[in-house]
Amino acid sequence: KMADHLRKYEALFTLTPQRMRMIVEAFKESLETGLAKNEQIVPMIPTYVFGWPSGNETGDYLAVDLGGTNLRVCLVTLQGGGKFEITQSKYRLSEEQKQEDGQKLFDFCAECLKAFIDSYIDDGTIKAGTRLPLGFTFSYPCAQKSIDHGQLIRWTKGFGAPNTEGHDVVEMFRRSLEKQNVPAEIVALTCDTTGTLIASHYVNPKTRIACIFGTGCNAAYMERVGDIPKIKHLGIPDDEEMAINCEWGAFDSFEHENLPRTKYDQIIDETSNKPGEQAFEKLISGRYLGEILRLIICELIDEGVLFLGQNTYKIEIPYSFDTAFLSLMESDPTDELLMIIGIFSHFFALETTLAERQFFRALAKLVGRRAARLSACGIAAIVSKKGYLEEGCMVGADGSLYNKYPGFAERIHEGLHDIFGEKGRNVVTYHAEDGSGIGSAIVAAMTKQRKLAGR
Ligand code: BG6
Ligand code: GLC
Repeated sequence: KMADHLRKYEALFTLTPQRMRMIVEAFKESLETGLAKNEQIVPMIPTYVFGWPSGNETGDYLAVDLGGTNLRVCLVTLQGGGKFEITQSKYRLSEEQKQEDGQKLFDFCAECLKAFIDSYIDDGTIKAGTRLPLGFTFSYPCAQKSIDHGQLIRWTKGFGAPNTEGHDVVEMFRRSLEKQNVPAEIVALTCDTTGTLIASHYVNPKTRIACIFGTGCNAAYMERVGDIPKIKHLGIPDDEEMAINCEWGAFDSFEHENLPRTKYDQIIDETSNKPGEQAFEKLISGRYLGEILRLIICELIDEGVLFLGQNTYKIEIPYSFDTAFLSLMESDPTDELLMIIGIFSHFFALETTLAERQFFRALAKLVGRRAARLSACGIAAIVSKKGYLEEGCMVGADGSLYNKYPGFAERIHEGLHDIFGEKGRNVVTYHAEDGSGIGSAIVAAMTKQRKLAGR
């Protein structure tokens, strides 16, 4: 009986190679439109990060990273030759903090940074009286006019702090730093994807693209300025290069013409704080995968298929089913699926039969596999637009989904193979080392060098 149900979900969540190629074509078009004009669905944001790092950037930098699972503050020493040292502290943001006034959010970041710097002054790592350059990684779409400026276009990933959208977040953070006398000077604003692009190229110069698969999902790559029509008027030489933060999570937003949305995806969208937006991201990223599975389970509870006679209120709470549970379910090594017994009994007070547990695991696989294959479509769109397929390229990737979800990378690679055939194997993703810390430090160093060169 569970097998019949499974077939239905298989049909809903499986992506054929042909369908994937259609998505890639539409995706490519969106990327081009975003480069051509302002205010398009996929914003294709020019980042004012010019070209690749030389690998010889050096010096001490602070980095603040807001936008992933944790708020992080880092002290990075770039040693040149692709080498670095990093120390960091992590702070958890509460759901309330994500919704309270924007300036308060930046005040909190400043507070954490101050405590961090103070502890390093106390132990002698940072000399008292120095004012260190700071790279600010802010992983939300910001329209930039320069490297140290960025106007928040819209919150994503469930953030909703008022009085922030439409404002320059560098200016807001600077205000918080000044208020608290924090000895740090913001020199560069980056997104986690741009940071990851630069950091992974620093250690692996074959890297051409960077992706984040975490709470959100997005990519960055390096573009010829001449191929970014919307910034022609700035008079930057055509053959210079600039990193583009795609903000591809927005692909297919509002119109919903290209992606295979199920009714569970639609519920997630409609009940989110940003209906219509981030359509691609909502099918892929860690913030939503657990919720997709939970909605399927709830549907089967309503139909009387699952948990008859048991109290199901816990699993009926929105977002109670963490994406980490999917990872655990897929990686359960036991025949009895003991891990899955544990998840359902411990977190939801529910008893499961072996057949049900096998069904849940199969569902997790469908949801996780669809996410990875859609991710492959995004990568394929950039690869194909840039003509990287023949010569091949490396894709630096980071984020909790990429790093912790079993088989996520393999499924992306399988997807690339399905799209491109044998040549798809020329495109290889790998785990990138801390883009928000090291990447933003390198960008800060590159900015300093560029200024010294009078550019
Ligand atoms: C980290 C990166 O590993 O992953 C950050 O260093 C990024 O740059 C983060 O923002 C995203 O993952 P998650 O899962 O924390 O959203
Ligand atoms: C969301 C953000 C984007 C970020 C991504 C990964 O899509 O809008 O800026 O890069 O999440 O963290």
